Amino acid sequence: MPLPFKHLLSTKQLTRADTEEIIRVASVMEKVRTKGKSDLLKGKVLAALFYEPSTRTRLSFETAMLRLGGDVLTAEGIQFSSLYKGETIEDTMEMVGQYADIIAMRHPEQGSAEKAGSASRVPFINAGDGPGQHPTQALLDLFTIQKECTAIDGLHIAMVGDLRYGRTVHSLSYLLGLYKNLRFTLISPTELTMPEKVTSFLSEKKIPFAETTDIAAGLSADVLYMTRVQQERFADKSEYERLKLQYVLTEPMVKGKKVIIMHPLPRVGEISTDVDALPNAAYFRQAGNGVPVRMALLAMLLGKA
Ligand code: NCD
Repeated sequence: MPLPFKHLLSTKQLTRADTEEIIRVASVMEKVRTKGKSDLLKGKVLAALFYEPSTRTRLSFETAMLRLGGDVLTAEGIQFSSLYKGETIEDTMEMVGQYADIIAMRHPEQGSAEKAGSASRVPFINAGDGPGQHPTQALLDLFTIQKECTAIDGLHIAMVGDLRYGRTVHSLSYLLGLYKNLRFTLISPTELTMPEKVTSFLSEKKIPFAETTDIAAGLSADVLYMTRVQQERFADKSEYERLKLQYVLTEPMVKGKKVIIMHPLPRVGEISTDVDALPNAAYFRQAGNGVPVRMALLAMLLGKA
């Protein structure tokens, strides 16, 4: 089933049927990946434009395209691009669409993805727009939750850390809004609580949520989704220093518990390395899941799935 849209800008545009189909295709892509390579996207070119730092998202987009037989063009760092000279995002899209068949872009400005999507002649994927959205991360998070917990309906999800600036928790909350009987615990310093637009969405969807500063409230959830305090969004660096390590998950806190521990990565101290050996530490498996999910999205948006 092709996706009923050309660009992936936000998880708010997805229906449950879309997410289920993406997860289904991603499971098929997992098998393709284990076999090595396919030539499904032979002759197609992905432009990966990363105007903000990225390791996982960029590399997993690129390997996803390469494993499907396609090719990749990469541009990194705003200071090396025409955007730095003052070119508009719209003009950049118009031009890149003449070089590539599909575009993935990360940009520091919230709303940049909407602008890019409105100007792009080829399918466009938001790979993170400032503190706004990160839809492909949310889809790989959902794929991970489904694999680790077998079902998504009925789960208790705890989100911890920088819920204000963390785009992954925004996108994931909207996506989980498509599922039934969920319950959220939102754990953050009072300065970094979930934006009102997300909590009002949860209320609209009648998803019960509790807001607290106490991480203990999340340790018996089904999923504990840890996040990094987003240093790059703080104008006042002393404020970042004050808030950065309010929550540090250590092995004794979760050992023997069934809670699945996730993190979009990079971690900068929020999960101590002694947690890594626990069977419920899912964050590296989660990062690996980025490849089949992005393979699925590239193939589906190019009409080849
Ligand atoms: C996240 C991001 O860029 O929003 N990283 C990622 O894509 N895996 C999370 C983060 O940087 O904290």
